[in-house]
Amino acid sequence: MRNFISVHDVSNINDLVAKALVYKADPLKDKSLGKHKRIGLLFLNPSMRTRLSTQIAAQNLGMEAIVFNVGQEGWALEFEEEAIMSGSTVEHVKDAAPIMGKYFDILAIRTFPSLKNRDDDYSELFIKQFIKYAGIPVVSLESATLHPLQSLTDIITIQENSIIPMNVERGPLWTQMERPKIVLTWAPHVKPLPQCVANSFSQWVNAWGQADFVITHPEDYELDTQFTNGATITHDQNEALKDADFVYVKNWSTFNHEYGRIYTNDPGWMMTNEKLALTNNAKVMHCLPVRRNVELSDEILDGPNSIVTQEASNRVWAAQAVLAEILKANH
Ligand code: CP
Repeated sequence: MRNFISVHDVSNINDLVAKALVYKADPLKDKSLGKHKRIGLLFLNPSMRTRLSTQIAAQNLGMEAIVFNVGQEGWALEFEEEAIMSGSTVEHVKDAAPIMGKYFDILAIRTFPSLKNRDDDYSELFIKQFIKYAGIPVVSLESATLHPLQSLTDIITIQENSIIPMNVERGPLWTQMERPKIVLTWAPHVKPLPQCVANSFSQWVNAWGQADFVITHPEDYELDTQFTNGATITHDQNEALKDADFVYVKNWSTFNHEYGRIYTNDPGWMMTNEKLALTNNAKVMHCLPVRRNVELSDEILDGPNSIVTQEASNRVWAAQAVLAEILKANH
């Protein structure tokens, strides 16, 4: 693995999930793999889980992790080629990235979309420019359109929760749930959010191919079909939730209609225990941070079906598996 930007950088999802679960069982198994190596974690936008879990993952591999909150503490970067820099940007990525390539062995970057211009955001210019000019492996900590470390975590968490206990008298103690039904449901929010998590989750679940995958959202919230192709898509949330084994709750803003807007924001789309009753006692997931009683009710988040904390804790093992693959491939 050279870079980790999307599911296309992964040759075998199940292998990577298995490697992450090995790290979960034995976090310091490869504590010398990254000895004398350094990772730079660049944040152009805020984070809690991504920042901390990636730092811990790097340290478990013996790497030094340096965090740089570029968005708050760094020079304003220019990404356009041949820009006349007479505006607010101070330093071109063409000058900054090669220096980071000398300081670090791996560069990890979080760069959110503007939600102003769809073509610009979906060109993924920022992360592509870092890949072009840094000269070292680049890991996405969430880019304009995708959040691959989150999605790998989500598959790991689904995999863990697909092992269900069986009655010992009827068969083996543990058995694999057969092809779980996974539902990605849109939820209301107070402000327009990127499509990254929903795009990325769709891309990974489709590539994984181990589930019946349904996406439900109100009209006008269609996602980019390059990520959703393969899923069943419906505007009927109740129908979608029927017999679901996993419900992934997430807000996103419009993609097709006036990009980056909130159209309808019907509170009836919030996930509640009443909706949970339609499912097959589904486990409920969310990438966090979550707006309580807007996206998800307290009763769900504080109840037995929520696996959001397990999901967030798995971010460490996803990051560790990815960093280990990059270290092994680029030593
Ligand atoms: N899920 C996620 O990426 O969380 P942070 O924004 O806190 O990193």
